[in-house]
Amino acid sequence: MKFFIDTAEVAEIRELAETGLVDGVTTNPSLIAKSGRKILDVIAEICDLVPGPVSAEVAASDFETMLAEGRKLAALRPNVAVKVPLTPAGLKVCKSLSDQGTLVNVTLCFSANQAILAAKAGAAFISPFVGRLDDIGQDGMDLIAQIVEIYGNYPAFTTEVLVASVRHPMHVTDAARLGAHVVTMPPKVLKQMYDHVLTDKGLAAFTADWAKTGQSIL
Ligand code: E4P
Repeated sequence: MKFFIDTAEVAEIRELAETGLVDGVTTNPSLIAKSGRKILDVIAEICDLVPGPVSAEVAASDFETMLAEGRKLAALRPNVAVKVPLTPAGLKVCKSLSDQGTLVNVTLCFSANQAILAAKAGAAFISPFVGRLDDIGQDGMDLIAQIVEIYGNYPAFTTEVLVASVRHPMHVTDAARLGAHVVTMPPKVLKQMYDHVLTDKGLAAFTADWAKTGQSIL
């Protein structure tokens, strides 16, 4: 399972990249706006920090402008994945860019049929938003189960299921149990994954007992 970090904050990415656990990064227009930085600068910087795909989202909604934006973003670094919305024009851009060898992440997916369309359009990644589905009383993980099952029926589909809009560590566990290829999570969720009260308690006891021995390993 690959871990992507869902942020445009370079300092956070640098810190987490040092764990060796980060395979890629996803951004979106809201995250770029929150960073207060220029998209081309921030994407190039992130691409130099992580080896894997860095999703950079187009801003337009018409085919020609999205295609031009996608080409410009893709030219920044070899590990850019161009992110396009799941619209007819977005999938047309996905097909054009994918045919030319550019990685494309199709975003804002909320149904299995949308995921089928993205796979047909050659997407490298499909991003179903589980948290936003949960927010409206639908089961986001049920959508992941459907997409994983459908893609599994067709070995010719090479699109990876990228679980997005992750809000808590249980989303990561559930996505892993379903065999999703990638989870993109806010930095806070990755940090929460380490936590267990029994780990803290056990380590405190081991440390105290070790001190009593008076030994040193080094
Ligand atoms: C994924 O690529 C999106 O950037 C992100 O996961 C959206 O998450 P949100 O629903 O918490 O905004």
